[in-house]
Amino acid sequence: MEEYKADEKRYEQMQYARCGRSGILLPKVSLGFWHNFGAVDDYSRCRQIARYAFDHGVTHFDLANNYGPPYGSAEQTLGRIIDDDLRPYRDELFIATKAGYDMWPGPYGNWGSRKYLTASLDQSLRRMRLDYVDLFYSHRYDPETPLEETLQALVDIVRSGKALYVGISRWPLEATRFAFRYLRERDVPCLIYQGRINLLDRAPIEEGILDLCRQEGVGFISFSPLAQGLLTDRYLHGIPDGSRMSKGKFLRPEMLTDDVLARIRTYNAQAEAEGRPLSEYALSWILRQPGVTSVLVGASSTEQLQKNLHAASE
Ligand SMILES: NC(=O)c1ccc[n+]([C@@H]2O[C@H](COP(=O)([O-])OP(=O)(O)OC[C@H]3O[C@@H](n4cnc5c(N)ncnc54)[C@H](OP(=O)(O)O)[C@@H]3O)[C@@H](O)[C@H]2O)c1
Repeated sequence: MEEYKADEKRYEQMQYARCGRSGILLPKVSLGFWHNFGAVDDYSRCRQIARYAFDHGVTHFDLANNYGPPYGSAEQTLGRIIDDDLRPYRDELFIATKAGYDMWPGPYGNWGSRKYLTASLDQSLRRMRLDYVDLFYSHRYDPETPLEETLQALVDIVRSGKALYVGISRWPLEATRFAFRYLRERDVPCLIYQGRINLLDRAPIEEGILDLCRQEGVGFISFSPLAQGLLTDRYLHGIPDGSRMSKGKFLRPEMLTDDVLARIRTYNAQAEAEGRPLSEYALSWILRQPGVTSVLVGASSTEQLQKNLHAASE
């Protein structure tokens, strides 16, 4: 591929939103590396999607230690893209990674101990060829580890300079309330909460997590905003070859029940009445929820990303 020079108009279309009460603005549409960026994926396509994103103002990339497959390889892909294209633009990027799920064998490669979080971030930095991340998350709540241990590890990681901000993902309400207070009292306020809100799953709204984020001045970013592709035209007429559902691991065919399909068709009709694709309709709905900072989309092609970015220019 030819030498990369970022599009000079990259900040013209994208809208940015303030992340809670912080100094950080995030693009309304951010890009996730959970799927489509592993060692199993074609590197030139990964590179194209990342370039396309950055050329259109997507400054925020979301990773985790175990994204791939295999685990770790999405971070390696990003490291390669950084070296090939994006290193000159490092200060224009907001890069997140996480630890919390199973990553390496034995008792120290999972959950929420200080040992795991600290070692995992060191590994992530090596894979991504970075000396710091902008944002480091506890990827999930650990009911066995004292919350103080997990949270103090996050505080110390920021103090070490290896992450500029911290966030939490998928923590339940009361633990989230505790986390926000603990971190604030140590002058490392939680920047953002990562949870799943989409037209088919509104749990963080119903459970009060989004309201808590608003009250506490913490941003909220929604993962799987398209329900892994269900809230697009992808499955309206069956399961296409090569789709995430056809691979069947995280989005299984039995999730496409008659009820889900009926709901998708209803939303699709509403989107058509507004003259736009279902994907854009679904993303716009999330971005209208008070307290939501950004939606974190996945994309297996630049065409998908291009469609999804329309929601960010409203
Ligand atoms: N914190 C957590 O625990 C957690 C959990 C899950 C995800 N995440 C984060 O959230 C990010 C996004 O999650 P996600 O990949 O599930 O998001 P998503 O945007 O709901 O789904 C992305 C998938 O939908 C399909 N798609 C996207 N745009 C499309 C379009 N315009 N038309 C047709 N199909 C389209 C593609 O699937 P095909 O492959 O079928 O083309 C794509 O891979 C992840 O990468 C990760 O960073 C975090």
